[in-house]
Amino acid sequence: MTARFKSNSFNFEAMDTSKYILVTGGAGFIGSHTVVELIENGYIPVIVDDFRNSEESSVKGIEKITGTSISVRNTDVCDFSKLEKVFREFNFTGIIHFAAYKAVGESVQKPLNYYQNNLVGLLNVLQLATKYKVKNLVFSSSCTVYGEPKNTKVVTEESAIQPANSPYGNTKQIGEEIINDLVASGADIKILNLRYFNPVGAHSSALIGELPIGKPNNLIPAVTQTAIGKLEKITIFGNDYDTIDGTCVRDYIHVVDVANAHVSGIKWLEQQENSLVENINIGTGKGTSVLEIIHTFEEVSGEKLNWEFGPRREGDVVEIFADVSKSKRILNWEAKKTVKESVKDAWNWEKKELKH
Ligand code: WQD
Repeated sequence: MTARFKSNSFNFEAMDTSKYILVTGGAGFIGSHTVVELIENGYIPVIVDDFRNSEESSVKGIEKITGTSISVRNTDVCDFSKLEKVFREFNFTGIIHFAAYKAVGESVQKPLNYYQNNLVGLLNVLQLATKYKVKNLVFSSSCTVYGEPKNTKVVTEESAIQPANSPYGNTKQIGEEIINDLVASGADIKILNLRYFNPVGAHSSALIGELPIGKPNNLIPAVTQTAIGKLEKITIFGNDYDTIDGTCVRDYIHVVDVANAHVSGIKWLEQQENSLVENINIGTGKGTSVLEIIHTFEEVSGEKLNWEFGPRREGDVVEIFADVSKSKRILNWEAKKTVKESVKDAWNWEKKELKH
């Protein structure tokens, strides 16, 4: 089926509308980078976002990078009837569900906001996906589903699921349980849970990147905002952990690699015959400590960072990074960019964003 209509800036002539992908939270950090990669792979993403945690400037950045005008619906995924209107408007072949709160530390302070937003949003998307027979769904899951790994630092998809360390991680654990029960009930749907580790960096064009609202919760934006002078200094939360240098270790993965994992995920789902649910780690397979990130930034940027050690942050996992063999085997996908490239791109974005 092809759509034959023109917009003022993009010729939809002979566009294959069987490639419509709903991207909830598509104006967000990972969402916006994924929308770019979807377009570059011949899909037609439709962004649903209520811009509570993102900015409309991200959509302009996507359009500049791709030369394509994007359909955007300013909609809260927790508003069932408004979200249903979007499902009626487009004949989606797939869904990528990003829209959720995602700051580990913040979730400890505001648990009800996290349970309400993250779970109601997912339930609405799943209800409408089954009602409108959208068969391919990628769920934005997280390495936080593993909790604090026991007797290991590297987790495979079969690693035991420990009690979540934060309400955020618990919303992802519960989300995966909801999905497992839906598929087990015989629903005609194929779902891929992508368990991201720590997405960082920005598009090489510096036209899109991470836009934390207020003081950043995450390490990399806190580093770049300190270097550019938006923050006076960065506090390293804890240096007495049993790790290489006493600071926490994470698997930092470039956001463009994460975006491409979603395209590979949709393509893989389209090739599957039967209903399924599959969990896949999205990481680099390497661990980097907070201090190593600080030193890498200083090396890459030539800037001296003003930092200090402070108390541990509640909800933090000590050390975790991914076993990435399954993503390679199943999706034929692996991370290509290094932590150094991620830090460089994050710094270029910070410097560019200052001029926006
Ligand atoms: C990393 C390390 C902090 C800020 C993230 C995402 C979450 C999930 C997992 C996808 C920790 C330390 C931080 C600062 C610091 N990803 N830190 N000073 O907590 O691993 O969670 O990855 O779903 O959505 O939020 O990432 O960047 O907050 O923290 O010392 O100012 O950096 O204590 O050890 P986290 P983070």
